[in-house]
Amino acid sequence: MYFARRGADQPRSFPVEESETLLAAGLRHGLALPFGCQSGGCGSCRVRLVSGTIDYPFPPPALSAAEQAAGYILMCLAHARSPLTIALHQPPQLDSLRPRQLPVRALKKEWLAHDVLCLTLKLPKGDGFQYLPGQYVDLLLAEGRRRSFSIANKANGETLELHIRVTPNGRFANWAAHEMPERAILRLEGPLGAFYLREDSSRPIIMVAGGTGIAPIHAMLDALLEKSPSRPTELYWGVRSERDLYLDAKLRAWADAHPQFRYVPVLSEPDVDWRGARGLVHEAVLAAHPSLAGHDAYLSGPPVMVRAGKDAFIAAGLSADDLYYDSFDYAFETWPQLG
Ligand SMILES: Cc1cc2nc3c(=O)[nH]c(=O)nc-3n(C[C@H](O)[C@H](O)[C@H](O)COP(=O)(O)OP(=O)(O)OC[C@H]3O[C@@H](n4cnc5c(N)ncnc54)[C@H](O)[C@@H]3O)c2cc1C
Ligand code: FES
Repeated sequence: MYFARRGADQPRSFPVEESETLLAAGLRHGLALPFGCQSGGCGSCRVRLVSGTIDYPFPPPALSAAEQAAGYILMCLAHARSPLTIALHQPPQLDSLRPRQLPVRALKKEWLAHDVLCLTLKLPKGDGFQYLPGQYVDLLLAEGRRRSFSIANKANGETLELHIRVTPNGRFANWAAHEMPERAILRLEGPLGAFYLREDSSRPIIMVAGGTGIAPIHAMLDALLEKSPSRPTELYWGVRSERDLYLDAKLRAWADAHPQFRYVPVLSEPDVDWRGARGLVHEAVLAAHPSLAGHDAYLSGPPVMVRAGKDAFIAAGLSADDLYYDSFDYAFETWPQLG
């Protein structure tokens, strides 16, 4: 048995059995630790190893070489091989935002774009479900299946909005769009993930969204522009063509109303008359900011976009400590068990 000690801000020690992961041990001892997929894919359980030795059953898929070099590890895969100290940089509110399961009612469905459905879910009255803007929930389906969706609105105590991409083979999305009964009751688990605004920083922010990756960023921006409108913030939203910019009017209105907020839509397959940025969304960021030192960066959307952005931004001087992301990986058919 080894002991892991959390970082200096709220030191806590907990014992870790050789056979269990750091995440399983920490949760077993009642710590509020961030996690998502529990299988190395999403990076939500990323923490910095300050001292000690760990090993993995296989190389950590969510971490780039630069993140590993900066000392980051994935708690859901790591096994302790010596006493450890890990640094968890998370806001104190997370202690009161532990994931739990609850029923919700489907209140409204609305097509935001040709392939994006906004599903509004009604929270149980008086339940007090809270989350940090940017976090996500898992919808719990039959036979242990789950689907992860980011919460697109900031907390209002009554409803959650999800932006669901409806692809031809997407099983849950097609059911929700075409077959789900009106006022259906669904079960969800949340809030999940470590993708939320770090409000203790005053660095300028670069946000990068791909497709429905705009959902958590919309929730963050809504909160940020209300609370800290003077913090310099740039949003780059990458989609295929103009018809996919389903929040364009709202984002332009926010940019008009807030001089410190800049919005740049980036199209990968634009029409000939498109006058804005084109190409890969992370390359549009680098064209405007060849150096990203001194920034905070938030990325969400398709795994390939997140991976390319992470590597390129760290190569452009962004500190791995100031990089946050939600990679919209495809669902596993069953959820891995803790341990
Ligand atoms: C933290 C997190 C947050 C997310 N937030 C959102 C969100 O806000 N909005 C959103 O639209 N999505 C989001 N996703 C992605 C979403 O959870 C998945 O795409 C999920 O699989 C959709 O479920 P489905 O049943 O509709 O589609 P599925 O039946 O799971 O299939 C989805 C699509 O992926 C394809 N696919 C499935 N598996 C693979 C594979 N292994 N390789 C290649 N293609 C595959 C299918 O053919 C189909 O086109 C998020 C994912 C994560 C991890
Ligand atoms: S990578 Fe650890 S919870 Fe997803």
